[in-house]
Amino acid sequence: MITTVPQTTFKTRVRNEALGGPNPFEWKDLTSADIFAGKKVVVFSLPGAFTPTCSTSHLPRYEELYEEFQALGVDAVVCISVNDAFVMYQWGLKQGAKNVFLLPDGSGEFTRKMGMLVCKDNLGFGMRSWRYSMLVNDGQIEKMFIEDGFEDNCATDPFEVSDADTMLGYLKA
Ligand code: BEZ
Repeated sequence: MITTVPQTTFKTRVRNEALGGPNPFEWKDLTSADIFAGKKVVVFSLPGAFTPTCSTSHLPRYEELYEEFQALGVDAVVCISVNDAFVMYQWGLKQGAKNVFLLPDGSGEFTRKMGMLVCKDNLGFGMRSWRYSMLVNDGQIEKMFIEDGFEDNCATDPFEVSDADTMLGYLKA
């Protein structure tokens, strides 16, 4: 089992008003070190922006419980999906995400190195992330909750253990 978060560079999009014009956005590279070094980070990873369970339950509950995570010493809550930066940015806007940081793993490199990249061709999705969550302390993976069924060709999409309440319960215990 992997014990350290993989090294990668995430390609994100950020707003920069100084650019002016109708599309004041620019690329911002974030490395694994930028996100994890010296911090306690809760990560959850899901199969796709704008999909039903991810949008109505998985992301919103982490958003709701953010202050409780903070009170337990968590510096950041990060949602990863194998979607490009444009899609993740728009999903964050649509969801009104103010607390959870939506991190696009557009190439799937981080997810592949995590061993969590799965084929969702049955849905026309291509390669996506299996649902999991993890608590990361200064880059060290302290705990992972991985949904069952990964070994079973990943044809299903269970959502039982990677939820916010399970992670919060772990942190409180
Ligand atoms: C969902 O979140 O409901 C979902 C995720 C992936 C594929 C289909 C649905």
